[in-house]
Amino acid sequence: MTDQKTPRSLPLSEAITIAAQAISEVISGRSLTEVLDQLEPHERPIVQSLSFDALRKWVRSHELIKQFIPKTPPPETDHLLSVAIALFLQDATEGKGYPAHTIVDQAVKACGEYDKTMYAKGLMNAVLRKVSLLVQPPEGDRRYPPDPIPMYVPAWWRANLKRNYSKQWQAILFQQAKRAPLILRVNQRQYTREQYQSLLSDAGIASKPIDEVAGIALPSALLIPEAVPVSDLPGFYSGAVSVQDAGAQLAAILLNPQDGELVLDACAAPGGKTAHLLELADCSVQALELDGERIGKIGGNLDRLRLHSDKVRVLRGDASKAAWWDGIPFDKILLDAPCSASGIVSRHPDIPFLRREADVRALQERQRGILNQAWNMLKPGGALLYVTCSIFFEEGEDQAAWFAEQHRDAVRLGAPGQILPGELNDGFYYALFKKNGP
Ligand SMILES: C[S@@+](CC[C@H](N)C(=O)[O-])C[C@H]1O[C@@H](n2cnc3c(N)ncnc32)[C@H](O)[C@@H]1O
Repeated sequence: MTDQKTPRSLPLSEAITIAAQAISEVISGRSLTEVLDQLEPHERPIVQSLSFDALRKWVRSHELIKQFIPKTPPPETDHLLSVAIALFLQDATEGKGYPAHTIVDQAVKACGEYDKTMYAKGLMNAVLRKVSLLVQPPEGDRRYPPDPIPMYVPAWWRANLKRNYSKQWQAILFQQAKRAPLILRVNQRQYTREQYQSLLSDAGIASKPIDEVAGIALPSALLIPEAVPVSDLPGFYSGAVSVQDAGAQLAAILLNPQDGELVLDACAAPGGKTAHLLELADCSVQALELDGERIGKIGGNLDRLRLHSDKVRVLRGDASKAAWWDGIPFDKILLDAPCSASGIVSRHPDIPFLRREADVRALQERQRGILNQAWNMLKPGGALLYVTCSIFFEEGEDQAAWFAEQHRDAVRLGAPGQILPGELNDGFYYALFKKNGP
């Protein structure tokens, strides 16, 4: 999902209502992507923008709610307030913003649509006026410069970060509460990065090359400082570019596929990294995916990028088992494992609201099952890249150490290890292993 500037296609009051309902769904355990997928196309961009911002600014909005309402409000009122307060907290990078009186009027109207009690309307009005004075005082009276807001995470998550990143944990949470930038990967089969930058410039879209992440050169990454809808990107529908975080672009580069190699993408959907492998080399790729719904996206992506050929096999199967495998060993394996996604929170701010502590242990076990099976399917002399979009050690360095201990024929090659979330990249873990043998 790409973050864009708030398009104003729905009346704001209706958008606030739907965003508050979406947040209620997240609090009761549904993913925001699932909720947003059910909206009408004209509703989606603004509701996505409002609900994402409300979750990113949750910590600050709840400090303010506590400050102005002595008793905890009912959940409906709380969720409406969190959406409305997030609008007050927008900074210059997040769009022009709405005037304070519009936010108050529209939020009170939304309250009438969502929560019929006069009590809630009165409360909403009173609280938002106070918040408005506090965070958006009249020009020339900026007593409250915007402070950085940390991302909400549950207590067990915070303890995990503190334990492993005693110096950086706060900076990580501040970084993850920011909107993620729009980053592209230019399809090198169609354009060089410079050629595509000229196309962007002709279309009036500014771009900046991202040359490296964690010391690894990125030849095709572009930052679009002022995000636009993908439909505005030149050649998007004929495969000129993909939307992909700069940290994620390291995967195919580190695996370094070569012409003629047989490569397994063991956990492939929606196919972002499968496509990147095929952009880099004339290799044969088997794209394996367990999820029957997600697998459909792989073919769609490859078709758009003009990368679908008889060298690609998309197949449904469980990477921790051999039932789907024809017995021919792979030269290289990309194992982009299912994980907590704790590194990509700024793009998916619902994740900290959905994860439970026990999930991390369960995911660690699943990752181990897939790692062991993948290793069996790798040729001696071949390479396996283990990737997670996590910043928990349990899914990163601990896994790599466990794997090296279990497999004495595994030699660790240079790969960045843990990459923390930054201005241009999400948090990822990368470990590269070569299989020793005759
Ligand atoms: C991190 S995502 C992969 C993202 C993908 N590599 C990309 O770049 O577009 C992990 C994927 O692994 C799939 N998966 C989970 N368990 C699996 C298993 N045992 N075998 C194969 N795929 C699995 C999930 O359904 C999910 O689509």
